[in-house]
Amino acid sequence: MEEKLFKVALAWEKAEKPVVFTGAGMSAESGVPTFRGQEGLWRKFDVEKAAYLDSFLDDPEPFWEMTRELLLKKQVKPNAGHFALAKLEREGFLQGIITQNIDGLHQKAGSRRVFELHGSMEKLDCLDCKKVYDWEGVLKGVEKGEVKCICGSKKVKPRLVFFGESLPQKVLEKASELVEDCDLMIVIGSSLQVYPAASLPQIAFHKGAEMVLINSEKTPFDYYFNWIFREAAGKVLPELEEKILGGNQK
Ligand code: APR
Ligand code: ZN
Repeated sequence: MEEKLFKVALAWEKAEKPVVFTGAGMSAESGVPTFRGQEGLWRKFDVEKAAYLDSFLDDPEPFWEMTRELLLKKQVKPNAGHFALAKLEREGFLQGIITQNIDGLHQKAGSRRVFELHGSMEKLDCLDCKKVYDWEGVLKGVEKGEVKCICGSKKVKPRLVFFGESLPQKVLEKASELVEDCDLMIVIGSSLQVYPAASLPQIAFHKGAEMVLINSEKTPFDYYFNWIFREAAGKVLPELEEKILGGNQK
């Protein structure tokens, strides 16, 4: 692992436009469950009931049940991997983070240029009276299992992307620009199975970027990567950050 760390740190230091792409595995060490794999959420919850727009409009409760498991079961906070990426961005070694995650942990760790392909829980809209809520405003209802608008509607929908919805256009455009330009793409904690998100690292590969994967299990695209770490993101990222910034603290 040592030699690989050294080589990847060197490639990252030399890269003009490094870009990071993260999935649920990035937040696993923060206590946020992943979706696939042994303990994945989709083994516990029916994804059709919990994450599809039409099912949410029918009955939002399975979605909120899954959300409690995803975000509320533990006091989720950024892990060492999130902080390492925020530091690399501050020191000028990161163009931006494209994330599939909705937990807001990159921003909580201090990252600024974060592109949330699947939105987040930050803001919610009542689909009936259009009232806008923020996450704190509905948290009690989520915990109690009765998310309801003051107008009585249960259709209080977070601004995140359900299956069956398209991605936020502006975010997708910005993320695509980053990916088109990048010369180093670091993919962290994603099974690369959900589109269009999973197409972004592939574009980087086809544009000739050097490719790094930090993912505990195989992905269908392992062959795209110059370097693969099977160790946890929360372990690898601080070691990389140390090697990159150790000699480069500005
Ligand atoms: N460090 C590195 N990799 C990890 C770690 C860790 N600590 N823990 C888990 N992993 C890996 C797993 O091996 C798995 O391959 O992270 C990956 C997580 O994959 P998924 O659970 O499929 O999550 P993700 O790729 O983000 O899913 C994409 O699917 O359900 C939708 O909208 C949801 O954004 C999500 C999308
Ligand atoms: Zn309302």
